[in-house]
Amino acid sequence: MLNFEFKNPTKIIFGKGQIENLGKEIPKDAKVLMLYGGGSIKKNGIYEQVKNSLKGFEVIEFGGIPANPEYEVLLDALKIIKEEKITYMLAVGGGSVIDGTKFLSAAALYEGNSPWDILKNNIKTEKGLPFGTVLTLPATGSEMNSGSVITRKETQEKLAMGGPGLFPEFSILDPLVVQSIPKRQLANGITDAFTHVLEQYMTYPTQAYLQDRFAESIMQTLIEIAPRITKDPSDYEAAANFMWSCTMALNGLIQKGVPTDWAVHAMGHELTALFGIDHARTLAVVAPSHYRYNFEAKKEKLAQYGKRVWGLTEGSTEEIAQVAISKTEDFFHSLEIETKLSEYTTDYKGTAEKISKRFTERGWLGLGEHKTLAPSDVEKIIEMSY
Ligand code: NZQ
Ligand code: ZN
Repeated sequence: MLNFEFKNPTKIIFGKGQIENLGKEIPKDAKVLMLYGGGSIKKNGIYEQVKNSLKGFEVIEFGGIPANPEYEVLLDALKIIKEEKITYMLAVGGGSVIDGTKFLSAAALYEGNSPWDILKNNIKTEKGLPFGTVLTLPATGSEMNSGSVITRKETQEKLAMGGPGLFPEFSILDPLVVQSIPKRQLANGITDAFTHVLEQYMTYPTQAYLQDRFAESIMQTLIEIAPRITKDPSDYEAAANFMWSCTMALNGLIQKGVPTDWAVHAMGHELTALFGIDHARTLAVVAPSHYRYNFEAKKEKLAQYGKRVWGLTEGSTEEIAQVAISKTEDFFHSLEIETKLSEYTTDYKGTAEKISKRFTERGWLGLGEHKTLAPSDVEKIIEMSY
């Protein structure tokens, strides 16, 4: 096991009806900016619940943060934060609204010229404007981590940022919110969380027995609840397990003391930036090719996953590892998620070269757990995903 430090300061308030406790978590004298997305919260009752819990606070609202939160839109919110002297933010939404709020948390206190530099130069935020969240869509884990991914349409870029100052102070996780989530987003959430676990697990054995079993149990739980939650999102027990699995998949715990990969996300983000494909779907496109391309380096863990998560018993390490990749694809297909780029766009020719060139320009010359995946490897993996 590798050395590690672990600190996660986010307070989780989990369960039915917890949104009504929101007001207790925010300082009484706060001037609050409430941020949300395209309006789903106004149709499913979450908006009313949040507003009721915020009675007595001075609240300004900022709606319209799009999926894949857009830099230009966030700059409008930043202006309000500065002009209105906002002291606290409340994100009500999925990963996009929460990530947008994290960007604002960093940008509000940033003293440099352009807040885009935070993303471009990967500046770590040590202290941000405080914020809490009400999660409406289990998927990203953003509600309990300090990372954020922001899109800039103008330049077709999607870049990550983060830092210890960007953990939410609290997050309310009420599984009842899952009821109104469309099937497509439920499938995305399961796929994203599942791939988060893979990124922190599918490397090489390091005798980290507990972390491996944390990871395997999250994947097993996601596999177990997937058919239930996609059939009936009002199945509370399935929703609760779904929600907590997504949070646990990316709150830092399972990656402690083990190597991590994250190349699937690096490549996937480019597919969203170029084609607007949903984040989770880009991961389903890249992951199978990534594991096949890096088969030799990953076969031990692939086989362990095949045995423990998919219950495979027959065959050599290599055979089980191969079947494990196919099982993963089948799982994505069972969620009606396509796993080839050509199933999302006819305009895919040249994508591999384009992404590989971008990585070279950014100096991303060694991805993966061994930091050995060069842009030329990235090009081949993306080509295999066509
Ligand atoms: O915008 P509204 O109208 O609210 O609708 C949203 C949106 O259209 C809808 N939705 C959310 N909650 C709902 C609901 N519809 C009905 N009922 C509800 N309760 O769902 C749509 C998608 O929402 P979004 O927030 O975009 O989805 P998700 O949570 O999957 O977030 C994706 C973003 O997170 C980033 C992705 O790159 C992407 O930009 N990620 C963030 C990470 C992090 N911070 O740790 C890690 C991830 O790997 C990922 O990169
Ligand atoms: Zn993800």
